[in-house]
Amino acid sequence: MKKIRIAVQKSGRLHDDSLQLLKDAGISVDNGKEQLKATSRNFPLEVFYLRNGDIPQYLRDGVVDIAIIGENVLIEKGEDIATAERLGFSKCRVSLAVPKSMQYNSLQDLDGKKIATSYPNTINAFLAKNGISAELHIINGSVEIAPNIGLADAVCDIVSSGSTLFKNNLKEVEIMLKSEAVLAVSPMIDEERNEILQKLQFRIQSVLRARR
Ligand code: PRP
Ligand code: MG
Repeated sequence: MKKIRIAVQKSGRLHDDSLQLLKDAGISVDNGKEQLKATSRNFPLEVFYLRNGDIPQYLRDGVVDIAIIGENVLIEKGEDIATAERLGFSKCRVSLAVPKSMQYNSLQDLDGKKIATSYPNTINAFLAKNGISAELHIINGSVEIAPNIGLADAVCDIVSSGSTLFKNNLKEVEIMLKSEAVLAVSPMIDEERNEILQKLQFRIQSVLRARR
């Protein structure tokens, strides 16, 4: 019998809650700190521990069938990929922030400015919709340091507790989108694995109902 292949974040904010969800659904797998792949002992499922940003492409290529991933990552890199379920954890915002000292009245204040971000597609769409043009500096991490080192006037990144903004003397001025973990499905999933997905989804739905 085939196994469904699920991508889970290797390390980072979604990792623990993703494995907890599978566990609560009665599916036991080893955690991925050491291995990149684990097989469940009691459900036809294989877990691949992958980097967040790579997951949309793995889904697209059908290398994995499903994934637990931040909706923000799908919006940025995988708008073509379907979502089967919102999972209610890892809630965050993708927001624009500026130095506390900057007098910010409206988005117009960022016209012609430099913005550091790991979310170029998300911010480009937002700026275009609002008729603003800005220069983007694409960086992969520690985005919030950019204004302090003179690299940018503003940043666009994930905000969860807000502590990273606070520590870097920044203030959140625009919320571009609100995100949470979702169950995403490869467009290439075959029929047999789709049946396994139905069973998995049924279990996940009862876990989510019990959590409410
Ligand atoms: C993420 C994100 C923000 C921060 C938001 O960074 O890029 O910087 O968390 O969370 P908070 O509002 O609770 O502070 P992460 O710490 O994962 O590191 P990275 O940016 O270097 O990838
Ligand atoms: Mg960060």
